[in-house]
Amino acid sequence: MATKLIVNALGKENLQAAYKKADTLVFLLCKECLDYVGNLALPENITKALKLYTDKYKDIFDCEDEHIFTAFDEYRLVNVIIVGCGQGKDCKPVNFRKAAGVSARALDKVQAQNAVLLAPALLNASRAHYLAATCEGLLLGAYTFEKYKSEAKAPRVCDLNILTNVDEQDKVLAEAKIIAESVILTRDLCNTPGNELNPVGMEQAARKVAAETGMKIEVLGPKQMEVLNMNSLLAVAQGSKAEPRLIVLKYQGAADAPFNAYVGKGITFDSGGISIKPSDGMEEMKDDMTGAGDVLGAMRAIALLKKPCNLYGIMSCAENMPGDNAQRPGDIVKAASGKTIEVLNTDAEGRMVLADAVWYAGQLGAQKIVDIATLTGAVIIALGTQTSGIVANDDDLAAAIIKAGKFSGENYWQLPSLPECKKALKSDVADIKNSCGRAGGVITGGLFIGSFVKEGLPWAHIDIGGTSTAASTDGFLIKGCTGFGTMTLIKLAGEF
Ligand code: BES
Ligand code: MN
Ligand code: ZN
Repeated sequence: MATKLIVNALGKENLQAAYKKADTLVFLLCKECLDYVGNLALPENITKALKLYTDKYKDIFDCEDEHIFTAFDEYRLVNVIIVGCGQGKDCKPVNFRKAAGVSARALDKVQAQNAVLLAPALLNASRAHYLAATCEGLLLGAYTFEKYKSEAKAPRVCDLNILTNVDEQDKVLAEAKIIAESVILTRDLCNTPGNELNPVGMEQAARKVAAETGMKIEVLGPKQMEVLNMNSLLAVAQGSKAEPRLIVLKYQGAADAPFNAYVGKGITFDSGGISIKPSDGMEEMKDDMTGAGDVLGAMRAIALLKKPCNLYGIMSCAENMPGDNAQRPGDIVKAASGKTIEVLNTDAEGRMVLADAVWYAGQLGAQKIVDIATLTGAVIIALGTQTSGIVANDDDLAAAIIKAGKFSGENYWQLPSLPECKKALKSDVADIKNSCGRAGGVITGGLFIGSFVKEGLPWAHIDIGGTSTAASTDGFLIKGCTGFGTMTLIKLAGEF
């Protein structure tokens, strides 16, 4: 399946002409919205059909599945798609994003070519965030990954006009499209398997974004890493034929504001190394570069949206393989910060590549650091697959992430980072160990990274181990890699 949606705003003055042309009408409705369908100046038969249908099916407001029926209107048939947006207080942009995602696939089902989307909430001039969420949801819900299908057909194109009265609607839609395209960039990278995308591939993707946006880019390879004593990142990479890359994008959108940094884990495939993973599900580890993908997607959007902030986007990329030069359990390496690490488990590699990367962010002068990583499986046990974990040394920074997530429909939960938890990281033979058992695995993983952040800098770590892949298609998420985090990082820029 594939329908490419061309999303545009539709003003009331062109509504009647649009109705005549449309083969499909999409309604995003909450229970309370139903009272306002009179404002949509619908063709008479459609109003009647809608009334009959909503009287009969009372549960259509659950923001879950679509309802599709065909109505007869002046000698022609029109597809009607209804997707619920909740009831009362639940009718929020977050639900619009989900409902729009559902409707994108419904449009594909009915093979729509020309559609009008209607939601009473979008008639309110000040509901820009509803319009943005609707557009994002449509484009993300229509996402497919078919690059490796030999028989992929050219997608059907559907013109989708959203009836809206929102102020600056064209600007709102243009921005929402940039955001959705950037999440799609992240998803595409994450869905690409390890044989097709290694750290050098990440460099190529980042150079493309730098060229597209005019951002500066600096890329460190093994030689430069050696000069900087980045032995922690190098140790992870040494078991693979693929060379590591530390990729730095620099965005300057404010004259003299301090630079902050996003730092993403970019393991293009995580076999576990010598502490090899069980084979069941190992293929999922192609998306162990989601953190880096998030950083790249977010930096692209931030630059194109010209957000007024200064930001580094750092991607720490390596492949974790058990080659004959691989690091061994028991090895001790000295990270760039000078701290020594006892490698108890080569599968705890994310924290090792991030140790040198967050240190480097400090060297570059970053004033605040947010790292994002598919760091642990433990986060799935702690928080499930809908919520990412936060470990931070600064509650305000954690709160800013949670707030940005509320806006983008991505959930977070902050875990405690007590000094007692740090004790568990003490090694008998080195300064710190990279693995310390099952208890509080999300917290200890985060605190390991935090111990390489320059003293005194506010820092927060986001663990997306449970949210980077979706087991099934739902709302604006498509089965496979979700790109979770990209939207949050875009929203967060300039707000921390
Ligand atoms: N990339 C994995 C974490 C992961 C596993 C994310 C499954 C999503 C699904 C990470 O590198 C890893 O292997 N972590 C270990 C850490 C442990 C050895 C301390 C884990 O979670 O088991
Ligand atoms: Mn691992
Ligand atoms: Zn990993």
